[in-house]
Amino acid sequence: MNKDLPIGVIDSGVGGLSVLKCLRQALPDEQFIYVGDTARTPYGSRTEAEVRTFVEEMLCWLDKQQIKLAVIACNTITVLGIDTLQKEHKFPLVGMSKGEELVLQASRNKKIGVMATPFTVSTRAHEKAILAKDSQAQVYLQPCPDFVPLIEKEILSGAEVQQAVAKYADPLKADGVDTVILSCTHYPFIKNIISDEFGAQVTVIDPAEATAALTKDLLANNGLLRTSQAAESIICSTADIGRVRRLAEFMLPQGNYLYRQICLTEK
Ligand code: DGL
Repeated sequence: MNKDLPIGVIDSGVGGLSVLKCLRQALPDEQFIYVGDTARTPYGSRTEAEVRTFVEEMLCWLDKQQIKLAVIACNTITVLGIDTLQKEHKFPLVGMSKGEELVLQASRNKKIGVMATPFTVSTRAHEKAILAKDSQAQVYLQPCPDFVPLIEKEILSGAEVQQAVAKYADPLKADGVDTVILSCTHYPFIKNIISDEFGAQVTVIDPAEATAALTKDLLANNGLLRTSQAAESIICSTADIGRVRRLAEFMLPQGNYLYRQICLTEK
């Protein structure tokens, strides 16, 4: 494996840009190729078979670009089981951190809320990961189906977002959680509003930094950290590249990116 190859990053849409932000901070010398499947988002309300087909198309497309590793910057894909996505791709995959250590460290009362897509919630993957570390913890799962469509439509503030946030935060507040994990990579786009809704007594955690740290460790352990100056990173989407660009400029602090609209089945 050539350590100067780029790193692939995939998501159903723009959510993975919140992970790309942390990856760029942790790995400033690397080149990234981001793929958001904006033509078919959201994945969180689709069937497992559909999501598996779409993911395979994204990984095959990245294979053709030649990458050294792919980050699955999407919880809905990660909970399918990273090993089951590996197939015969030449590069290793890193999934989203479930953040079980982070939430258990942050929580005083061990009442933990998980906000995620309906699909992610249905697998109970985060609950299982937290309980495997601490069987005394109480985990409250909250599906938030309205968030991804709003964020994809660039609605990141205002009454509609406030109402959706309140609707999903209220049950978790009633359960008395003191820590909430954002287990969908889209949600950091509205993290401030979510944090304000819960108030200062609740810690809201985004596992993107932990995912970036896992990625860095995997590269370092395999001698794959880049040593030469990287070319510009590329942000690709399967639809609406102009909208993706605006959301990328909102999420990513600075830096030069190339933007490309792609067809995943192109030769
Ligand atoms: N950003 C994704 C996640 O982390 C998926 C959102 C969706 O497509 O429903 O789950």
